[in-house]
Amino acid sequence: MQPRNDNATSETKLLHADTAGLAQAAQVLARGGLAAFPTETVYGLGADARNSDAVAGIYAAKGRPSFNPLIVHVADLAAAEKLVVFNDAAQALAQAFWPGALTLVLALRDGAGVSSLVTAGLPTLAVRVPDHPVAQGLLRAFGGPVAAPSANLSGRISPTTAAHVMAGLAGRIDAVVDGGACGVGVESTIVDVTGAPALLRAGGVPTEALEAALGAPLSMPDDPDVPLSPGQMASHYAPQGVVRLNATQAEPGEVMLGFGVVKGALSLSETGDLHEAAARLFDCLHRLDAMGASRIAVAPVPDIGLGRAINDRLKRAAAPR
Ligand code: TXA
Ligand code: MG
Repeated sequence: MQPRNDNATSETKLLHADTAGLAQAAQVLARGGLAAFPTETVYGLGADARNSDAVAGIYAAKGRPSFNPLIVHVADLAAAEKLVVFNDAAQALAQAFWPGALTLVLALRDGAGVSSLVTAGLPTLAVRVPDHPVAQGLLRAFGGPVAAPSANLSGRISPTTAAHVMAGLAGRIDAVVDGGACGVGVESTIVDVTGAPALLRAGGVPTEALEAALGAPLSMPDDPDVPLSPGQMASHYAPQGVVRLNATQAEPGEVMLGFGVVKGALSLSETGDLHEAAARLFDCLHRLDAMGASRIAVAPVPDIGLGRAINDRLKRAAAPR
């Protein structure tokens, strides 16, 4: 693979999620290339976390500010323990939710071998064991830690299908493994466990479930607008159109994104099911882009369970740019 720059153009291979496809994707990673792959949350853009040139390629392909650190994906807890120092709370959370949609921020181990571009120079590392057969297959075929942000251009809508990845990154990355649509649909929940467990980003594992596993409340961001995780930019997940939240009906010129009893041209979930809404959220935003919607009204979504992650993403989609 060539080291790439912002304007790199090469053909992006669309690979099947079978043994041969996973072997090819693992080879791409081993050569320092970029391979996107499905996880249960969203598609990730993977690179060998130990290879600084490869990790630099992620930042270039996404147009991502280099101060924003990346999550490292590994196949199991044993592999994670080689990279970071676990404590009791981290053990409890890993036992309860791995493999799954939970990312733990822990102290980076000396000699972990992870590129400092992954941590953006922080003394901590974000790690996750994904629960998706294709992600697991790739991690095992590759046999090393894989740094992977969501496989979208920086600031744009996260991808939940291989077609979403191609629409944003074709020609900028080496390969995409097509594993169909992601089941959870919003990114992992991020918890900083270097001290008292603190929520950094709402996500696929609801806060209520984390608190039940810990037997204690999580500390929450005081002001949800202050980014605790360096990458929590106010404007993010942005569709092309202007977004208005908590709308009960469309105004003239708006396309309505409904939920439950609030009907729309599209609906996150007609039955008001938060799991379905999370799984459909990014696809609905991609569809609104494809429809050329210049003004988007979004129905209210209850701020409980997965609704918290959905509202976090919607708020960023609606933020001034
Ligand atoms: O579900 C997910 O988490 C997906 C899939 C691909 O695994 N990945 C993902 O990555 O959402 P990304 O890069 O889009 O978001 C990672 C977030 C950023 O907000 C970043 O600032 C934060 O994790 N982060 C990474 N390392 C961190 C650290 N050491 N301390 C605090 N926050 C960190
Ligand atoms: Mg992202």
